[in-house]
Amino acid sequence: MVGMNLVAPVIAIDGPSGSGKGTIARQVAQLLGFHLLDSGALYRLLGLFLLQQKLAPKQMTDKELELMAKTMPVEFCPDESGEIRILLNNQMVNDQLRTEQTGEMASQLAAMPAVRDGLLQRQRDFRQAPGLVADGRDMGTVVFPDAILKVYLDASAEARAKRRRKQLIEKGENVSIAILLQDLRRRDRRDRNRKHAPLMPAYDAVNIDSTELDIDQVVKIVMELAMQRLPAG
Ligand code: DC
Repeated sequence: MVGMNLVAPVIAIDGPSGSGKGTIARQVAQLLGFHLLDSGALYRLLGLFLLQQKLAPKQMTDKELELMAKTMPVEFCPDESGEIRILLNNQMVNDQLRTEQTGEMASQLAAMPAVRDGLLQRQRDFRQAPGLVADGRDMGTVVFPDAILKVYLDASAEARAKRRRKQLIEKGENVSIAILLQDLRRRDRRDRNRKHAPLMPAYDAVNIDSTELDIDQVVKIVMELAMQRLPAG
């Protein structure tokens, strides 16, 4: 029912990279039985789509970029274990989305208004009953300003770099904290200082600093807030 979709509640979780928002969003969505939107994946998908076609954003007009953002053939398919398989042109691209090259392209594209406009409706289409947990940078400020709960999750740059290092070591990659820290700070600066939809807490967001908290503690706080605000039943 269309009416149901209009009122499906949204929980917005925004914050810088490495704050843990992706993991928190996934766990909260699972606990509530809600849909999940990893909005960063859409920016990465567009980046990968351009890389695959050897296109540079600069070669394209705003109209072309917006149209590509609106129409690139993407599917998100949850598998039995709850992991989401991301398909671009019917090919699974989960690993390719996480590379540095794709991340860099995504970050450049994310600063372009034509791209943000093109992806806006796609993100809103994820809002379906019984509800949505959306993670990104502008979920509470731009995409879902009427979210029933907006969380802004932050952590010190050092804590975020350490977490990233741990993830990379688990994948067999050894990168120094110093390099990761430099990288994080560069991306933070770009995300915070861009003109369009910069990374910032919504005025009505609950700020959580996870520097000293583990995943379970943050999930517990978010779940308590969600239970207070979700309609009963
Ligand atoms: O969260 P992530 O690293 O997958 O995000 C990839 C890029 O997209 C990153 O540079 C920030 C940007 N992004 C954005 O501008 N707005 C969002 N809602 C999500 C991501």
